Amino acid sequence: MKFAPNFVFGTATSSYQIEGAHDEGGRTPSIWDTFCDTDGKVFEKHNGDVACDHYHRFEEDIQHIKQLGVDTYRFSIAWPRIFPAKGHYNPEGMAFYRTLATRLREEGIKPAVTLYHWDLPMWAYDEGGWVNRDSVDWFLDFARVCFEELDDIVDSWITHNEPWCAGFLSYHLGHHAPGHTDMNEAVRAVHHMLLSHGKAVELLKGEFNSATPIGITLNLAPKYAKTDSVNDQLAMNNADGYANRWFLDPIFKGQYPVDMMNLFSKYVHTYDFIQEGDMASISVACDFFGINFYSRNLVEFSAANDFLHKDAYSDYDKTGMGWDIAPNEFKDLIRRLRAEYTDLPIFITENGAAFDDQLVDGRVHDQNRIDYVAQHLQAVSDLNDEGMNIEGYYLWSLLDNFEWSFGYDKRFGIIYVDFETQERTWKDSAHWYADVIQTHKATL
Ligand code: NOJ
Repeated sequence: MKFAPNFVFGTATSSYQIEGAHDEGGRTPSIWDTFCDTDGKVFEKHNGDVACDHYHRFEEDIQHIKQLGVDTYRFSIAWPRIFPAKGHYNPEGMAFYRTLATRLREEGIKPAVTLYHWDLPMWAYDEGGWVNRDSVDWFLDFARVCFEELDDIVDSWITHNEPWCAGFLSYHLGHHAPGHTDMNEAVRAVHHMLLSHGKAVELLKGEFNSATPIGITLNLAPKYAKTDSVNDQLAMNNADGYANRWFLDPIFKGQYPVDMMNLFSKYVHTYDFIQEGDMASISVACDFFGINFYSRNLVEFSAANDFLHKDAYSDYDKTGMGWDIAPNEFKDLIRRLRAEYTDLPIFITENGAAFDDQLVDGRVHDQNRIDYVAQHLQAVSDLNDEGMNIEGYYLWSLLDNFEWSFGYDKRFGIIYVDFETQERTWKDSAHWYADVIQTHKATL
């Protein structure tokens, strides 16, 4: 595999997953603090109170980032640090990110900043959260101060990370904060997230007249039918609609998929929350498209499921999350996006894997992670040979961190974190990735 000289290599994290310092610098709780505090939601009731203590150790972490040799580092801004209460701006919270981004730049690393990586302030949740259309304005207040204070030192903006997770996984399936199981709410929440994305793009490009590239990151998982039967084909179409098209279509075509609107109408009795002009805002032109890719799903028909699909047994090799390792399907996905949706430059804003790492004598021999990343980087290289224009790749994640409902039980880092001592140890994958970056090539 090989990469063009201007191909950017990066690594990614998010605020709640690494920062800790949950009650410092004026921060107030987010929905994740509350969710973690609720029995039965997160593995062994872990939480992000301390996490990787990055809030205090960011200088050390920047040194690791620098030694990896990455061109860029993707992190997110904790909204409740910036607005600890409604309408109450907290400069101390902003100062942390100003320092972080400044220090990254001084070390030659480009900051790629995500505005929303799921830590909605509790004050916003208490007023209805994303289900309330006012959330769009709250988000714009947040985006505005971020643009005001950071646009001069940020290299790219990502409005939202994985609205499928923040929407359907959180408001319909209930696995993520705030843990609701209401499809009517979920569809509204997603609409307001997407609208806030579009309006933030308009704000940056309009009022701020900024040339900083801005886009959104979706998690996309291609779906495959277990058999050729009509039922399984239907299941595949619905699964794809629920996971992928419900987000791709409004963003790139300015319209929700009609088949899914029909299917959802069992719970969503009216779509009157879609107001005039919304779809034009949601489909506003961006500068790039971010994709988080981890896996594919094999699906089959299920009459028991509301939307008539469920995951089928698959004999693929799996990561420590039990997710199919599917670099070929990743290629199919990118080709489909090019054929059906967009010509925008693509950034793989996350890709990586959890495995059952063992720290022995100061080493972690995570050949399985190296294999996973190598296969996906090979796919990126092949896709670029086909002219697919993928401009960069961010490995998830820099550090082992708080893996949401799995707590610290799942390790995605290329750097091992001892959560007792906060000691960081490079896994073999970190050494390997540094070498790939340096040479812009790798062998499988
Ligand atoms: C996607 C999410 O953006 C990130 O927060 C999460 O840790 C990884 N996937 C791994 O599940």
